[in-house]
Amino acid sequence: MTILGVETSCDETSAAVIQGGKLLSNVVSAQLFHQEFGGVVPELASRAHQRLIVPVVEEALAKAGVERNDVDGIAAVYGPGLIGSLLVGLSFSKAMAMGLGLPFIGVNHMEAHIFSNLIEEPTPAFPFVNLTVSGGHTQLVLVKNFFDYELLGETIDDAAGEAFDKVAKMLGLGYPGGPNVDAKAKLGNPKAIQFPRPYLEGRPHHFSFSGIKTAVLYYLKREGLQGTLIQENRLSDICASFQSAVVEVLVHKLISAAGQHSVENIAIAGGVSANTELRSSAQRAAEQHGLNLFIPRFEFCTDNGAMVAMVGYEKFRAGKFSHFELTVQPNLSLVI
Ligand code: KG4
Ligand code: ZN
Repeated sequence: MTILGVETSCDETSAAVIQGGKLLSNVVSAQLFHQEFGGVVPELASRAHQRLIVPVVEEALAKAGVERNDVDGIAAVYGPGLIGSLLVGLSFSKAMAMGLGLPFIGVNHMEAHIFSNLIEEPTPAFPFVNLTVSGGHTQLVLVKNFFDYELLGETIDDAAGEAFDKVAKMLGLGYPGGPNVDAKAKLGNPKAIQFPRPYLEGRPHHFSFSGIKTAVLYYLKREGLQGTLIQENRLSDICASFQSAVVEVLVHKLISAAGQHSVENIAIAGGVSANTELRSSAQRAAEQHGLNLFIPRFEFCTDNGAMVAMVGYEKFRAGKFSHFELTVQPNLSLVI
């Protein structure tokens, strides 16, 4: 069974082919021009998806060595995400499926992030607790089985990746900020500045990152650093201290959710799972608590078609197809 997966929820145009559960190709075209605007410009993103969708899908099929007529089903993300971006991938995929007489499968972007841990061996056995940390979301999910999720908690304000991006902007680092903060933090002292750790008493599985972000802003104002060119070693200290505050909270809540639900397997997904400190700190904590930690390879951490194709593959096997009337849902939640 051969499934084509299409992802266009934000600023990556991506397509992938999975055959018999094995990934054959994963083509990702990142729209790097957003960097000069300091963030994703929705209208430009959707226009770029229109330009890129056909060549990206063609490349994914070619790399997989698969003809259009070999495809058995097409899966595409229909939410959550930017409305214009979602519309391009969804309309294209529905039209292609309809034209070829194939079943169409609508995919939830947050479910796809969870599935990024199921693309390659070793994969976590059910049940596992998944922490999805991206530019738009921070969620702790108990994954009981395919398509059976319990949303344990999520952010009540900024997403973790959003906090990285906003702090990077304050520090004059480019967009997307996460990788830049990560790189600078490697050279800094994480204990140099004590930023708050919002554990949210009484809400053990929820997150809040706007306070840490504001604490960085106040620090910069207090030290007369706002809008100035910050000395390199100071910049590294700020990045390392901010990053360690965010990572400490993420890891603590992931481990405690695993304990509370008595699961042995934990996983991290989404763009922020590319973060070096999050990876190493989660690994240390998992070992201390006798848990098995799963984090996908870097190319599956950020938005990609492979995770969408993977959901499509499992949904196809389970006979879970979508109607062609399915339309985009920019605010789609994980558990409906
Ligand atoms: O999953 P993703 O590609 O898109 C969304 O669905 O949001 O995640 C993008 C987010 C951005 O906020 C970016 O700054 C963050 O992931 N990110 C990182 C790192 N690499 C990407 N954050 C921290 N450290 C990184 N190394
Ligand atoms: Zn994403």
